[in-house]
Amino acid sequence: MQMAPLQIGNLTIDVPVVLAPMAGITNTAFRRLCREYGGGLYVSEMVTARALVERHPESMRIIEHDEDEVPRSVQLYSVDPVYTRKAVRMIVEEDRADHIDLNFGCPVPKVTRNGGGSALPWKIDLFTAIVAGAVTEAERANIPVTIKMRRGIDEDHLTYLEAARRAVDVGVSAVALHGRTMRQHYSGQANWDSIARLKEAITEVPVLGNGDIWSAEDAMAMIEYTGADGVVIGRGCQGRPWLFGDVENAFTGSAQRFHPDLGMVADVLYRHAELLVDTFGGNEDKALRDIRKHVSWYFKGYPVGGDMRRALTAVETLAQLRELLDTLDRTVPYPGADAEGPRGRAGAPKKPHLPEGWLESQDITDEHRAQIHEAELDISGG
Ligand SMILES: Cc1cc2nc3c(=O)[nH]c(=O)nc-3n(C[C@H](O)[C@H](O)[C@H](O)COP(=O)(O)O)c2cc1C
Repeated sequence: MQMAPLQIGNLTIDVPVVLAPMAGITNTAFRRLCREYGGGLYVSEMVTARALVERHPESMRIIEHDEDEVPRSVQLYSVDPVYTRKAVRMIVEEDRADHIDLNFGCPVPKVTRNGGGSALPWKIDLFTAIVAGAVTEAERANIPVTIKMRRGIDEDHLTYLEAARRAVDVGVSAVALHGRTMRQHYSGQANWDSIARLKEAITEVPVLGNGDIWSAEDAMAMIEYTGADGVVIGRGCQGRPWLFGDVENAFTGSAQRFHPDLGMVADVLYRHAELLVDTFGGNEDKALRDIRKHVSWYFKGYPVGGDMRRALTAVETLAQLRELLDTLDRTVPYPGADAEGPRGRAGAPKKPHLPEGWLESQDITDEHRAQIHEAELDISGG
């Protein structure tokens, strides 16, 4: 396979692969690890437009990039055209990003219950106003805006085709589809047929496919099955930042893949922790608490015992982490299939949590408009 570069507005992404925005994961540390293995577009954790406009310290941390990070990509979550415009204006005026993605895929009940995230495209005029607002502000600096969404709320309320059409008509530079509905949450399998349908429907800008890519072979399979212009990878790279190297190899016709032995995995995990210390402004305690969630992903399939895993998820300092990792047998080879396949969030379908009467109409009522503002407060995660 020889994949063409991805053209997103004025940005040329040599390898058409995107690191999916993941709250709590895709910070500067993790993005650096991933991009060291291969080309692509590496998106930040989502930041809520309102919190950004109010300059909450955590929001300001989220939109930071390393000096050598090009292009600088930020994902915004918003439920309101006014805050969207303000947030994009701030990014433009302060020159804080080269690409802005808008999140319309979040399935978390506390968000969708108030009409945000994956509930929002159903209110198609509000959705369009948010996207148009972002594009108008970003255009002033020639910054491309993209959207990322799910298929819809459930099989009876699919929104992706209409939402993509509206978004393209108001000027987005690419559309990404996670092949699940809100109801599917992270269960079952992503529906790649819908990605193929979207690709047929949208001819003006790149269409990116997302959902259940666990290997470079899956990335190629998605491209072949859907005709998408590129892929978006989330959970598949948790504990496996080298997956971006595999995908670059696959997309340039090389059969070479990373098959790390335990020593390499331990080194990458340690480096991840060190980078997190930088990400969190030298706060070692915070960084080490954060690395704990990555441990089981890094060691998936490797013969690392329960006691060791427990000890690793209780480390408090880099020195402790080093000491524990040094006790591993570095020569243990790549375990093959056991290290591959699904990882990270899964679970069962979830009944959609929506505002009362939300599905009765695609027009938004004043009451819903008031309620939706609550969807912007105190959230994180997609
Ligand atoms: C821990 C976690 C955090 C996520 N946070 C976000 C987010 O901030 N913004 C977003 O658009 N999607 C978010 N997602 C969804 C992913 O970007 C992606 O669409 C989803 O995981 C499906 O892709 P995958 O099968 O490759 O994981 C998150 C997913 C996970 C597992």
